[in-house]
Amino acid sequence: MLNGWVVSVLFITLLVSLCNPRGVSDIKTLHFSETHTNTHTHTLFSFLSTLQYDFYRKSCPNAENIVRSSVANIYSHHQDISASLLRLFFHDCFIQGCDASILLDPITGDATYSTEKQAIPNLTLKGFHEIDQIKEELERVCPRVVSCADILSLATRDAVVLAGGPFYPVFTGRRDSTRAYFEEATADMPRPDDSINRTLYLFATRGLDERDMVSLLGAHNIGKIGCQFILNRLYNFSGTNLPDPSIDPEFLNHMRSKCQEKENNENNNGSQDQMSPASSPISKEASVEKLRRSTLDVSNFQELSSALSLEGGFDTHYYKSLLSGRGLLYADQQLMANEKTGRLVQGYASDDGSTFRRDFARAMVKLSVLDVLTGSQGQIRERCGY
Ligand code: HEM
Repeated sequence: MLNGWVVSVLFITLLVSLCNPRGVSDIKTLHFSETHTNTHTHTLFSFLSTLQYDFYRKSCPNAENIVRSSVANIYSHHQDISASLLRLFFHDCFIQGCDASILLDPITGDATYSTEKQAIPNLTLKGFHEIDQIKEELERVCPRVVSCADILSLATRDAVVLAGGPFYPVFTGRRDSTRAYFEEATADMPRPDDSINRTLYLFATRGLDERDMVSLLGAHNIGKIGCQFILNRLYNFSGTNLPDPSIDPEFLNHMRSKCQEKENNENNNGSQDQMSPASSPISKEASVEKLRRSTLDVSNFQELSSALSLEGGFDTHYYKSLLSGRGLLYADQQLMANEKTGRLVQGYASDDGSTFRRDFARAMVKLSVLDVLTGSQGQIRERCGY
């Protein structure tokens, strides 16, 4: 009885906060976003009649515990699981909703069918194997009951919490898509070199406003960024053969040397592992390729470069780096190129992190209910890749 009351109170609080997001009054909605926001307000609220709190309480009462303990177990060996799942979840929900379409594997022997995971923006996604692992555990206990879309949503929340991020409620009852969306993923995922206008537009068409977008991008507080995604900024910005002029020169040198250092380390490791009798000098192409494959640890990198944070977790260091012109991706730094998003960055950077964490939690709830399949729609897959 008491539990029921607690859940109802939480639920109403969440509803009220979704209806009246803090700060809406200080952000003028962009023109193009208005119609989409209205459609999505409808989509957002239509989930409430279908997704439920603890949907599996009767059909698989231990489902959420199993997900939680599996994620904790994986995290104890691989802490990078939090960043992998958070990114995977974002890429799933952003294209045709949170329906696990990102998890589908190519169909063997059918070269004409392309899956979402084969689309360029998704080529470096990780975490597929871990989701399969959790699904296998659940299939042993409750065959064909818990959807891959719910597993990804719950596992992401649990992994975020383990990485020091905020807790947020995950409603369940999603079903899995029967197909993947290659073209949509290729065209509509935000790109690392996108302008602020394009990024805002893509988020707005999904009912996510400036505040949602700026707080969600705070996910870049954790994880790794491949040097390939910033190479153009460092050496050939917009085909000028010059670096991005908006990068602080000291930071530019730092990023260049970090990517180079990574490349050298990989070369050294490579030569130890594979002693080549020819030991030929590495060709320019191979060297660029190595640079493309090297990665920067976001938190360490931003710590090292800006000495702003010692924690390197879900705090405000991402926003502080943007304030000092030290965003890694062009799209990150672009948050400072717009008055509203710049003001939000400023706000998040200037307190103890509690505003960011609260907004991030709320935006994750919004992201997690985008265009979900429920009821008799879609399917419950037996394996997430098929
Ligand atoms: C403008 C929007 C965004 C762009 C252009 C973007 C782009 C990228 C790129 C290029 C990487 C590096 C991937 C790699 O090196 O393999 C990355 C990493 C990451 N992104 Fe985003 N992203 C965006 C928004 C988001 C959002 C909204 C989230 C989550 C809510 C997110 C979560 C992450 C995480 C956690 C990583 C680190 C992944 C890892 O270490 O495995 N990103 N992003």
